[in-house]
Amino acid sequence: MGYQNDLILRSARGEQVERTPVWLMRQAGRILPEYRAVRNSLSGFKELVETPELAAEVTIQPVDLLGVDAAIIFSDILVIPEAMGLTYKMVEKQGPWFEKTIQSLDDVVKLKIATAEDLDYTIEAIKITKKELNNRVPLIGFAGAPWTIFSYMIEGSGSKTFSKARKMLFTEPELAHQLLQKITDSTINYLKGQIVAGADIIQIFDSWAGILSPQQYEIFSMPYLKQICDAIQEVPVTVFAKGAYFARHTLAQLDCNTIGLDWNMGIQESRNIIGDNKTLQGNLDPCVLYASYSEIEKQTKEMLRTFGKSRHIANLGHGVYPDTDPDKVKCFIETVKSYQH
Ligand code: CP3
Repeated sequence: MGYQNDLILRSARGEQVERTPVWLMRQAGRILPEYRAVRNSLSGFKELVETPELAAEVTIQPVDLLGVDAAIIFSDILVIPEAMGLTYKMVEKQGPWFEKTIQSLDDVVKLKIATAEDLDYTIEAIKITKKELNNRVPLIGFAGAPWTIFSYMIEGSGSKTFSKARKMLFTEPELAHQLLQKITDSTINYLKGQIVAGADIIQIFDSWAGILSPQQYEIFSMPYLKQICDAIQEVPVTVFAKGAYFARHTLAQLDCNTIGLDWNMGIQESRNIIGDNKTLQGNLDPCVLYASYSEIEKQTKEMLRTFGKSRHIANLGHGVYPDTDPDKVKCFIETVKSYQH
């Protein structure tokens, strides 16, 4: 397709690369004053998500301003519960809040299976972004993993323990499976729509993977991740299951190209567990970016050396924190781009 820079796609597929590609989770967001300027001109986060021209603009900002090797479409994982029938508010300084939550089988039955048309604002944003990127770098599409979306639909907001969501797995496993299946079907429709619109690679965020036991993860997350990976064959897929160190050997069985690592996961140990047939993504502690420039360089080089040149996509082990100095982010990116293996 003639990309000027397709390093991330080649690395995902295990092909030869001149150097390690780099991007950051949450790169399109509050670290950039240019993002805050756009965001502050609007009623809030959701208006930005739902206005395709502006969503495209903030998607491209980190490519221009930080020099990352991929853009990630500006949206949120919570657009799926909304398209299924649960609207959310993004409360300033607190996070997401759902007026209605799922408590009974009847609630699940009433939910709609979302289609890509229900999320036309993001689909449209992808089309505009692709045009404006003009093949400079690939565009990452994304969705939440069914288990993580389920957690928000049961709890109605963020939580330290997500104990209501975990409780449901023990008290109403049938309800849980029905809801997880509806989320999975919606997610596949949505991701297929993103790919048709131009997404070049897909990432699945299982942000709350780490709160389940290994047994519960096998029952309530893995089968749905598998359905998504099996359904998406058109482009490379990355699965990022935060905290799921215990599931690395089964994650390695998924039909995906890349496994994301958080900073708690040892690099060499993960490679041994996962094997050589997957690309690994990550995994610097986002707090390293609060350190001095020389420390950031040192830690980044150490990470690059340990992963090796092939089958690695450099990233942080989770999203960049909003109060991180963009110059420190640039230092991380520049260190990756100039590293000689
Ligand atoms: O990575 C990117 O740059 C693309 C955009 C993106 C956002 N959210 C924008 C956003 C992506 C990929 C997400 C994913 C997302 N959203 C996840 C999975 C990744 C993770 O962090 O584990 C989760 C769990 C959410 C849900 C969510 N969205 C929460 C809990 C919050 C509030 C906390 C916070 O960071 O403010 C959001 C809001 C959100 N999503 C913001 C952004 C830029 C901040 C809102 C603002 O600008 O005020």
